Amino acid sequence: MNLIERDRASLWHPYTQMKTRRDPLAIVRGEGVYLYTQDGRRLLDGISSWWVNIHGHSHPRLNQALADQAERLEHVIFAGATHPPAVDLAERLLGALPRGLARVFYSDNGSTAVEVAVKMAVQYWRNTSAGAGPSRHRIVALHHAYHGDTVGAMSVSGDSVFTQPFAPLMFPVDRVYAPYCYRCPLGLQRDTCHIECLGGLEDALRTRGSETAAVLVEPMLQGAGGMIMWPAEFLAGVRRLCDQYGVLMIADEVLTGFGRTGKMFACEHGPVTPDIICLSKALTAGYLPLAVTAVTEAVYDAFLGDDHTRTFFHGHSFTANPLACAVAIASFDLFQESSVIARIARLEAQLRRGLTPLLRLPVVGDVRVLGGVAAIELVTDKASRDAGGYLDQIGPRLSSAFVERGLLLRPLGNILYFMPPYVITDDEVDWVIGQIGSVLETI
Ligand SMILES: Cc1ncc(COP(=O)(O)O)c(C=O)c1O
Repeated sequence: MNLIERDRASLWHPYTQMKTRRDPLAIVRGEGVYLYTQDGRRLLDGISSWWVNIHGHSHPRLNQALADQAERLEHVIFAGATHPPAVDLAERLLGALPRGLARVFYSDNGSTAVEVAVKMAVQYWRNTSAGAGPSRHRIVALHHAYHGDTVGAMSVSGDSVFTQPFAPLMFPVDRVYAPYCYRCPLGLQRDTCHIECLGGLEDALRTRGSETAAVLVEPMLQGAGGMIMWPAEFLAGVRRLCDQYGVLMIADEVLTGFGRTGKMFACEHGPVTPDIICLSKALTAGYLPLAVTAVTEAVYDAFLGDDHTRTFFHGHSFTANPLACAVAIASFDLFQESSVIARIARLEAQLRRGLTPLLRLPVVGDVRVLGGVAAIELVTDKASRDAGGYLDQIGPRLSSAFVERGLLLRPLGNILYFMPPYVITDDEVDWVIGQIGSVLETI
């Protein structure tokens, strides 16, 4: 049996209807922005392998860091023990994160980073309110949010085909407007509005603030919910309202961290410092699963005490895995040495220049660009903005057309997006823009 036949006989892939699926790509090698298939094809990785890769595949410096660490220590329990990569990485992170974030808690993927953040927020209020007033356990989250697939992360994510079967298991969340300007929930226009959509959050906090533990947002870019890009004023407004109503702010930067939106962290666009921030994906440059939930000293302090019930009882077998931490440190070095933020600014300008003209096509409703991410929202009717959503078959059809041309893209239904590793060259970006244009012209 070949690899695909063996895969078919033994595996179950994520987000995949296994009955009707196409054969998966058999990838045997990666180098820079390219992936190589077993049958000798080369594909440009236009989605950074699920948004995790930033410096390219199989980078010699990252490979070396991983090999060196493996020689020294591959893993050790992180309760009652520590190790240099965990401490070094925490120090590096705290030096780079928005000022005020002071403590790093490790876990191992984006969903767990969010679970940890939500649990910390709820226990923070339990530890600090000592029975005074109503219990603060409610979470406010946004429409179109995506925070992961574990049950807590699904609860705070927007209602979707991903979450519906599990509705009976999920905890209730107060859901408020996101600043989705192309489909403004209030029917306003961005060039004349005053971010009135923040009123949804304000209403929720006015009526339920005293029961609310935290407001959770994906700052500046809501990814899986449709690559929705925000005006920075909305982000600043979230922080202002959290302060006004005395509620914690959690920033889920699992996708946006490490330059994706053009700043090291998307919170810098506000600029705001959240009380709790979640990181994963590009943290290890796409090498190994690792996540961070970092908090302010005030949040951390609430868990200190002689009373053991104040302890944060949470952990995972692979918490602070030394191999993952070592690669994350090497990725930080690459970030600083190669002026990555300046590179992303050039990428943003090139994407905007190259893709905006596609608005002339009848299927293109909106073109959005932020940092190293470009999204094209496809519509069936430009005037009414009708579109098929996540299950729209346009997604898989486009994906196949691009793969035939040597480009790996995986639209979210009717949202076609491009999010390459930052090491992509200007010529490669031009080539991708050309491929997107010519495929969209034929549909
Ligand atoms: C903003 C955000 N939060 C959380 C997650 C969940 O991360 P993971 O897939 O590593 O569990 C994702 C994944 O796409 C994400 O985009």
